[in-house]
Amino acid sequence: MTLLVTGAAGFIGANFVLDWLASSQEPIINLDKLTYAGNLETLSSLQGDARHVFVQGDIGDTELVNRLLAEHQPRAVLNFAAESHVDRSIYGPGDFIETNIVGTFRLLEAVRGYWGTLPVGAVSDREQAPSRSETAPTRNDFRFLHVSTDEVYGSLAKDDPAFSETHRYEPNSPYSASKAASDHLVRAWHHTYGLPVLTTNCSNNYGPYHFPEKLIPLMIVNALAGKPLPVYGDGMQIRDWLYVKDHCSAIRRVLEAGRLGETYNVGGWNEKPNIEIVKTVCALLDELRPRADGQPYAQQISYVTDRPGHDRRYAIDAHKLEAELSWKPAETFETGIRKTVQWYLANPQWVSNVQSGAYRDWVNKQYA
Ligand code: NAD
Ligand code: DAU
Repeated sequence: MTLLVTGAAGFIGANFVLDWLASSQEPIINLDKLTYAGNLETLSSLQGDARHVFVQGDIGDTELVNRLLAEHQPRAVLNFAAESHVDRSIYGPGDFIETNIVGTFRLLEAVRGYWGTLPVGAVSDREQAPSRSETAPTRNDFRFLHVSTDEVYGSLAKDDPAFSETHRYEPNSPYSASKAASDHLVRAWHHTYGLPVLTTNCSNNYGPYHFPEKLIPLMIVNALAGKPLPVYGDGMQIRDWLYVKDHCSAIRRVLEAGRLGETYNVGGWNEKPNIEIVKTVCALLDELRPRADGQPYAQQISYVTDRPGHDRRYAIDAHKLEAELSWKPAETFETGIRKTVQWYLANPQWVSNVQSGAYRDWVNKQYA
């Protein structure tokens, strides 16, 4: 059996591949466009490992996706590929529409075509499909798992209960609107065509290999470089943080046992205001890599103009995933953030490599 995983040179996808292949012999075909956010260095430990097949390409390239599906006959397609950064979606929404909406549509259509060619029945009925190899999946076993975000639900007031799966969709940024559209397409392909889909909506991830444009890695990297730590607005916006490996274990669990057509919220019950996150990162750096002048890193905090349309609060109710699929995060915020800071301290070369080239050009253009 094989998995086709899209966007797996990015932050969460690459962590998923590394975790998967640490405990499974099942190969992964990794289809990634290698935008500024995709980085094969993250997967360098898999060089020469036949279980990881990397293909550079676009999820919207129907011919390529059709060929990969026919050639590798995956039992599941996991769609991580997306433009993922809210600030970028504000400056330039076009790529978000193209990949997150049009790309997901094209991927769904290619997968629907492939799924229709699979023999009906379960693996146990394989003798009904004598022309198929022993390892080919059947239509009943196949899954399309779409990785999405809590941002589709919009912004919560201070006292509102956390987002459940039945919360209405109220996306506020071009990014979240594009993800909401993709979720709706996935839902419709199940409802209309019967495609066996699963959707996960996760809160903010953090951990190793996180691109240093997102809050936590940006704060670590800027602090160490002696640069300002930009906190948007009053810094009291709340996000709900989950260690990336826990997101990966949740996806694995949903793939194994999720009910078809269902969505599962994934979160770590870690609601925190941004300023608290930044101060925690500063305190860990004070402990693990004190500034040469002995001053606290928190001195570098700088309040800057708020993000337009900034959502005030996200919070995930993960009861469904916990009760139905017995999933639990392994890390608390305290253990996860310490591991994360330690990882960045140990991997300055990865940071400087991903910050070179396309990313630096983009930042220079936006903020010149
Ligand atoms: P990322 O930006 O780090 O990685 C995205 C990857 O997708 C990159 O490797 C990029 O090259 C690839 N890609 C982009 N466009 C593509 C295309 N057209 N075809 C093929 N590959 C393409 O993103 P991430 O943080 O790893 O997020 C992965 C998924 O999880 C996204 O769908 C995102 O919406 C979702 N998500 C992220 C978070 C988070 O906190 N990071 C939380 C919830 C959900
Ligand atoms: O909630 C899940 C989402 O989390 C994912 O779907 C997105 O792909 C992912 O990027 C993330 O979106 P956010 O916008 O919440 O993440 P970001 O790290 O950009 O920002 C986190 C919070 O920190 C947010 O309230 C904005 C604030 N922020 C961010 C940056 C980069 C700052 O105050 N300063 C900054 O420099």
